[in-house]
Amino acid sequence: MAIQIPRGTQDILPGDVETWQWIEQKAYDLCRRYNYQEIRVPMFEHTELFLRGVGDTTDIVQKEMYTFEDRGGRSLTLRPEGTASVTRAYVSNKLYGQANQPTKLFYIGPMFRYERPQSGRMRQFVQFGVEALGSADPAIDAEVLALVMRFYEELGLKNLKLVINSLGDTDSRLAHREALVNHFKPRIHEFCNDCQDRLEKNPLRILDCKKDRDHELMGTAPSIHDYLSTESKAYFEKVQSYLTALNIPFVVDATLVRGLDYYNHTAFEVMVDGEAFGAITTLCGGGRYNGLVEEIGGPETPGIGFALSIERAIMALEAQQAKPAHNQAIDCYVVTLGEAAKDKGVELVYQLRNAGISAEKDYLDRKMKGQLKAADRLHAKWTVILGEDELAVGKVNVKNMETGEQTDVALTDLVSHMKQQVEGGNES
Ligand code: HAM
Repeated sequence: MAIQIPRGTQDILPGDVETWQWIEQKAYDLCRRYNYQEIRVPMFEHTELFLRGVGDTTDIVQKEMYTFEDRGGRSLTLRPEGTASVTRAYVSNKLYGQANQPTKLFYIGPMFRYERPQSGRMRQFVQFGVEALGSADPAIDAEVLALVMRFYEELGLKNLKLVINSLGDTDSRLAHREALVNHFKPRIHEFCNDCQDRLEKNPLRILDCKKDRDHELMGTAPSIHDYLSTESKAYFEKVQSYLTALNIPFVVDATLVRGLDYYNHTAFEVMVDGEAFGAITTLCGGGRYNGLVEEIGGPETPGIGFALSIERAIMALEAQQAKPAHNQAIDCYVVTLGEAAKDKGVELVYQLRNAGISAEKDYLDRKMKGQLKAADRLHAKWTVILGEDELAVGKVNVKNMETGEQTDVALTDLVSHMKQQVEGGNES
């Protein structure tokens, strides 16, 4: 029996990969304009990083990590997200000591979560994320939000909803935490085992429970907004006023808590409307995580970032029929007839490619008709035909496949002729 692909993973084949490259290019370009620099971190880390960073009461840590022991007996984990690793790299490499501050980083790479696979929920998925470390200015919260919204806009996505909330500072959170415990405690036996477990460890996460979301105590739970300190309130208002100034629409949702432990102050998600999209409507999540760098052993450093999955961006583009067509066309197909011409063809494609022209030839001993068909399938813009007769007089026939126009060109001039054609074609 053929070996199957693991559940929750996918092959991205030619034909689809062009969409990925296009999206990745948009991300690179946007990060360049916003002055975020790429960082590449390992795909596995010491398990402890995620226990401390993501939080040991989160679903990610409790249920979803790919954790294994290596041959040296160390516990390692395939990264379920990027923030903990980037923060670890920031500390390990003392990026806080560099002259350029804040440290503004981005990453694109696979993450691994042992989740129940469904539409838009995979076990290996690719996140594009940014992290800005070293600034507690609400303007940088606005910058991160502007970047992500602009990213989707430049992809051509519509009907996006930016939902923001403030989780407050430590004092606000502690006061809110106590209120939540008092609220749920008398009836906690009516909640699922996970929530019972969360009551003392992390009551905020009860609000995020999918099983108990319809319980009447959920609707009446104390809101974080009633417990925000004056500073937290002022911070959140400033973020909102920047968004308004930038004309970025948003809604405030006091129940948005996020599934990772490291957040405080600004938390946000980007959702997309649309039935065609199925169950998954959250495209992106992020927020501020002042305190995470210290948790990982670094100096006191504020931070904020987001991550979004490219798979979900593509699904949203498909649902909105906004995925652009990417016609991969090659410049030139070299058709040869006869043994001597075939040998010459090997040299010709080599020379054309060296000159920056995309070129292909036949490797299946196809007849002329078959070779022309192959050229057609590759959407070749020009075909170069080289038969015994042409070879004898040192010429090739070059045909523009769009106009049908044909020219005889000296073999020795072919590369420069094709360069001119290709460059001319690209200009128009
Ligand atoms: P997160 O909400 O766990 O946050 O994930 C962010 C995004 O990753 C989600 O909105 C979704 O697009 C995508 N995602 C998560 N799980 C899956 C999955 N199983 N399949 C497909 N896509 C998925 C974080 O990961 C934080 N590190 C975000 C962040 C960065 N916060 C601050 N900086």
